[in-house]
Formats: sequence, C-alpha cells, structure tokens
Amino acid sequence: MHIQILGSAAGGGFPQWNCNCVNCAGFREGRIRASARTQSSIAISDEGVEWVLCNASPDIRAQLSGFPPMQPGRAPRDTGIGAIVLMDSQVDHTTGLLSLREGCPHEVWCTDTVHEDLSTGFPLFPMLSHWNGGLCWNPIVSGTAFVVPVCPNLRFMPFALRSAAPPFSPHRNDPHPGDNIGLVIEDLRTGGKLFYAPGLGEVDDALLGRMRGTDCLLIDGTLWTDDEMRGCGVGARTGREMGHLAQIGAGGMLEVLDQFPHVRKVLTHINNTNPILDEDSPERAELVRRNVEVAFDGMSIVL
Ligand code: MLT
Ligand code: MN
Ligand code: ZN
Repeated sequence: MHIQILGSAAGGGFPQWNCNCVNCAGFREGRIRASARTQSSIAISDEGVEWVLCNASPDIRAQLSGFPPMQPGRAPRDTGIGAIVLMDSQVDHTTGLLSLREGCPHEVWCTDTVHEDLSTGFPLFPMLSHWNGGLCWNPIVSGTAFVVPVCPNLRFMPFALRSAAPPFSPHRNDPHPGDNIGLVIEDLRTGGKLFYAPGLGEVDDALLGRMRGTDCLLIDGTLWTDDEMRGCGVGARTGREMGHLAQIGAGGMLEVLDQFPHVRKVLTHINNTNPILDEDSPERAELVRRNVEVAFDGMSIVL
C-alpha cells in the first residue's frame, strides 16, 4: 500500500497566514530550520494508480500539483482521486471538496454525523449537488469494514474516536460517536496495516487494541503541550477542549507511543505552535530519542 502525506499541518497550516508565534515568525524570517506544511490530508493506493483521498484539505490544489501520480493523463480531464474518505467534518478536512467541483461526481465515504454536519452547518452535500451529480454519499458505520471499489486490495476498518466536532456542528458541545473516526487500513496482499487518526483526544484500552498489530501509527501530533496555544499567546483553547491529545504530560501521546517499540510511529496534523516543527528544538530531539517521526508534506510510506 502506498501512503502519500499530502498535508501534515493542522488547521491553518504552517506558517499560518495571520500568525506571529515563535514558529510562524521564525520561519518567515529564516530564523528556524523547518519546512512549510499544508493542511492535513493523505492519499492511499494499492497499485499507485487510483487513490483514496483521506480528507480534502483547503490546500488540495497545491497538494495535487506537488504529487504527479494524482494527475494521470488517461483522458482530456482526469484525476487519480477515485474516492474520498472523511475523518470528520472539520474545515481543514472538508473544504477541499469545493475545489474538486469540476470533477464531480465524487464518491465520498463518511459517517452519518459527518454527513449531517455537511448537509446543515456546512452544507457541502446539497451545495455541490449543483455540479454534475455532486457528492455520492457512502455511509461509514463504526466497526464495520468497507472496501472502496477503486482500490479493491485495501480494507478500511473505521472506528469512532473521542475528539471534537467543528463550531458549526450541532454536536459541538455534545460529542457523538462518529463525529471523528480513525481507520485501520490493511493491504490484503501484503498484509501491511496502517493506523490513521489525525484527530484523537483520548486513548483507551479498546483503541490500544486497534493500534496493536499495525505496522505504522500515523497519529495526531497537533500539540506538544495541552496549553500550548495559551502559552504562545494565540488562543485560549486547550488541546483537550479541541479534541487533541498533547504529546507531553501524564497519559500524553508519547507515553501511548512508547508502548509500541516495534511499530513505525509518525506524528501528523501538527499545529503551527508545536515546537517539534523546529528541527533544532530539544522537543524534536526528544522525538528522535523515542523513535517517533514527524510527517512532512511529500512524505511517502509503503506498507
Ligand atoms: C482541529 O482539528 O481542531 C482543526 O485543525 C481546527 C480547524 O481546522 O479549524
Ligand atoms: Mn484539524
Ligand atoms: Zn503560528
């Protein structure tokens, strides 16, 4: 299975257009060693021809131009995007659907709660129905595996996560299972298994069970500390409130990942305030020590 990291940043990207935090200003002024990152999305394929887009980032146009296999030349108008799977209804994971309107209809897999958000608060489904058939909804049911016809050798197992619904969702302050999902994606030929959860607020025993037996954990790396946004003077919300488990602290993501010494561990959906973006930071050195990688745009993983 081919896994292409199209975008490795959280909402806002890195640097964020209106942000002057240490990282964003430091990057603009050339004071830190870091790479710019677009907003969270990956593409997955069995044969490397048809791709399943997991999340549709607002930065999709740049992401597609940066990855030629997604632009095949089989017809005057063509795309390698054979299907789209949404992990939640957040702006950074869905707005790219608007940019894909010229290629409608698209097959979109998401839960009923995400479909509801995208039919009400952020009505992408009804709106895009005006473009050549729009978005065809394929319901995801947590705990029920599905196969996407364009990549018949991949099996997707979705499961509900504790994270957070976006501000426009009726579930904003009343989380429902299905607001956010994670996936274990298995290549039925190679046996390779990817665990993917870019938005993850809480890890329980059941989830640890799902992580066990996979070959790669591509997981929420939004924040280093829970109160990082406040510490940087850019916001008051904590990671816990945003549905993102911070790396450091009791029960933090690094403690979780330490339980998987033989699995490849890659943090993604990195917020622009996170010190691990600075390649010379002590926090980044700590990740190296723990054998944890940081996803970057253009990273490719084969399982
Ligand atoms: C999140 O996951 O919390 C987002 O990155 C928020 C956003 O895109 O606005
Ligand atoms: Mn996000
Ligand atoms: Zn910033």
